[in-house]
Amino acid sequence: MEWQAVEIRLCQWILLMLVIIHYTCIQCNPINVTSEVTKRTLIQMPKIHVDKPDSYICMAVPVTDLEFSTIVGFKIDVVKEITHHVSIAFCEDYETRQTVWDCKSSHGHICSGRSTVFGGWDGWSKNHSDTVFPDDVGIQLGKDVKMNYVIIQTHFKEAVPDPDALKSNPTNVTLFLAEESRNYSFQKVSLYSSGYIPAFSEDFKAEITCKWESVPVQLYEYFAHTHNYGQLIEGYIVRNNTKILLAMDKPKGKSHDTVVIEGRHTEIRPGDILAVRCSFRNTGSSKVLFGLGGSDEMCNLELSFKYDAKEINAFPQSVKCGSDAQEKVWCPNGEHKQVGVLCDLQHESANKAALEDVHNLMM
Ligand SMILES: *[C@@H]1O[C@H](CO)[C@@H](O)[C@H](O)[C@H]1NC(C)=O
Ligand SMILES: *[C@@H]1O[C@H](CO)[C@@H](O)[C@H](O)[C@H]1NC(C)=O
Ligand SMILES: *[C@@H]1O[C@H](CO)[C@@H](O)[C@H](O)[C@H]1NC(C)=O
Ligand SMILES: *[C@@H]1O[C@H](CO)[C@@H](O)[C@H](O)[C@H]1NC(C)=O
Ligand SMILES: *[C@@H]1O[C@H](CO)[C@@H](O)[C@H](O)[C@H]1NC(C)=O
Repeated sequence: MEWQAVEIRLCQWILLMLVIIHYTCIQCNPINVTSEVTKRTLIQMPKIHVDKPDSYICMAVPVTDLEFSTIVGFKIDVVKEITHHVSIAFCEDYETRQTVWDCKSSHGHICSGRSTVFGGWDGWSKNHSDTVFPDDVGIQLGKDVKMNYVIIQTHFKEAVPDPDALKSNPTNVTLFLAEESRNYSFQKVSLYSSGYIPAFSEDFKAEITCKWESVPVQLYEYFAHTHNYGQLIEGYIVRNNTKILLAMDKPKGKSHDTVVIEGRHTEIRPGDILAVRCSFRNTGSSKVLFGLGGSDEMCNLELSFKYDAKEINAFPQSVKCGSDAQEKVWCPNGEHKQVGVLCDLQHESANKAALEDVHNLMM
């Protein structure tokens, strides 16, 4: 780890140790999640020196002190002027064994063992209100689930040469905790493209498919994400030669705004194919690579789902599924034969008016 990149002065260390040992637990008014007793616990990333712009700083907090049994929601507050984005993960373990460290080189792969990435903040999205899981969904704490740390990763867009000059500590994460356990656990499935968008492409389609091999789960929320070239993102479940529309979104810059699937939650069953397609326009003379960098492009659909909390080992990690954008996996005969039903859509120009109706379709 490039520890030199993050100097932490003595006083910050002392502050940090206080944060780690006692990390500030504040008892607030119960939130209206359910009638269960809940409390809010504040975790603060200390004021630290950040060497250069575009740095990633991680902080690990052991969860042994969280007496309550379930995480049922969260809120993230940042100093907007210096912050690109923040993500929160719940991990069995992590490699560096430090409490605060420069984590740029791990490219977001911070956790080892079991993990759930359950929250985020970014400068492009509008909605930064409290995030509360559905009434029956939570992230279980405790020995049985073998999750030991909450890890907060802050991507700083600016350097912080003088931490004392910061108007407040850079990142606060407030966890909403409930005493009771919930019937369902939270996890995510992430579908994404690799490869590139060719130059001079009026309408390039990056396609993703993957087969659901696991237990049945219910989707309740998604976000669809591209960077600068995205025109439309579509997501379907293909089951027994029928397609079920899951998500259709017109990308809005780099936003990660989530769409809650109201009403009946959509089930994914073993044997289903998840199919995603992003349409891109790149009229430039260079190809554009898919990747995590700001000037790379993305085709990413993230689905939040709930599964039976008794199935403790069903999803030790989020489900990831990637396809190479240079391979046409939707039609006619990618890896999964049953996606033939998507051939109907192959030459359809994106029907943007349909966007209005999408949410009704899902109920
Ligand atoms: C929370 O519940 C109380 C009592 O049921 C109600 O008066 C209040 O309006 C609720 N607050 C919100 C934000 O829903
Ligand atoms: C974090 O919480 C502390 C204590 O309530 C507060 O003083 C500080 O302004 C907060 N920081 C942010 C970024 O909201
Ligand atoms: C933000 O999210 C909350 C909770 O999901 C929702 O009630 C609210 O309508 C959203 N606001 C916007 C602007 O999307
Ligand atoms: C959770 O499961 C129990 C037992 O199956 C059931 O009695 C209870 O109503 C469920 N709770 C919710 C919120 O669905
Ligand atoms: C597909 O249809 C068959 C026959 O109706 C049924 O047995 C099977 O469970 C279905 N598959 C899925 C994934 O629903």
